[in-house]
Amino acid sequence: SEIINPAGKRKVAEQIAAMVKDGDVLGVGSGSTVYMALLAISERIKAEGLNVLAIPTSIEISMFCSKLGIPLTSLFEHTPDWLFDGADEVDPNNWLIKGRGGAMFKEKLLISSSKVNYIIVDDSKLVPKLGTNFPVPVEVFPQALLHVEAGLKKLGANNIALRPAKGKDGSIITENGNLILDCRFDEIKDSLERDIKAITGVIESGLFIGYNLQILTADNN
Ligand code: A5P
Repeated sequence: SEIINPAGKRKVAEQIAAMVKDGDVLGVGSGSTVYMALLAISERIKAEGLNVLAIPTSIEISMFCSKLGIPLTSLFEHTPDWLFDGADEVDPNNWLIKGRGGAMFKEKLLISSSKVNYIIVDDSKLVPKLGTNFPVPVEVFPQALLHVEAGLKKLGANNIALRPAKGKDGSIITENGNLILDCRFDEIKDSLERDIKAITGVIESGLFIGYNLQILTADNN
């Protein structure tokens, strides 16, 4: 994805790479900051001969790990010792919006499965409140689209957009074969993640409220 100023992303990526230990099973999120961390980790693997396994959250990241010689595993075989992932927004409570890349279901599954989670962001991602720059993405089973839309409106969504595909006609289809609705809410309360998930047909949302997360941040100077 687009990297306007990579300085902050590179700093947090290098911090992550420095934390990797021989034998670690890593949960690996998605996005450009994660990509930079994997580059730095692969350098350490080459230089020090570390044995590391990665559980990826997207096909893109799987392909990238393979290209870098980082062996893959899955949640069938392992749970992550620790995980790193990016975010689109981080608020003062460490609540997140994720899912610009559409991978939030697998990202949330891995964060929920991992003992320790590091969120790596440059300081452009820090917001006074969620929804400042990004809508809340909601992954929806296609046949449930109208039902879910009606439910989201009841929860206070004032603008709901079916995420369009890039480079082809129609809408984005996620790796799980679903659609994404990008939703603006008047207010994001701590119950909203649960309330969205309770609508039949919702696979997952990009709201991460009350998770055990360590936020690593750096400036872009
Ligand atoms: C992917 O679905 C998102 O949750 C990413 O974690 C998020 O978009 C961060 O991406 P960057 O590191 O490219 O900013």
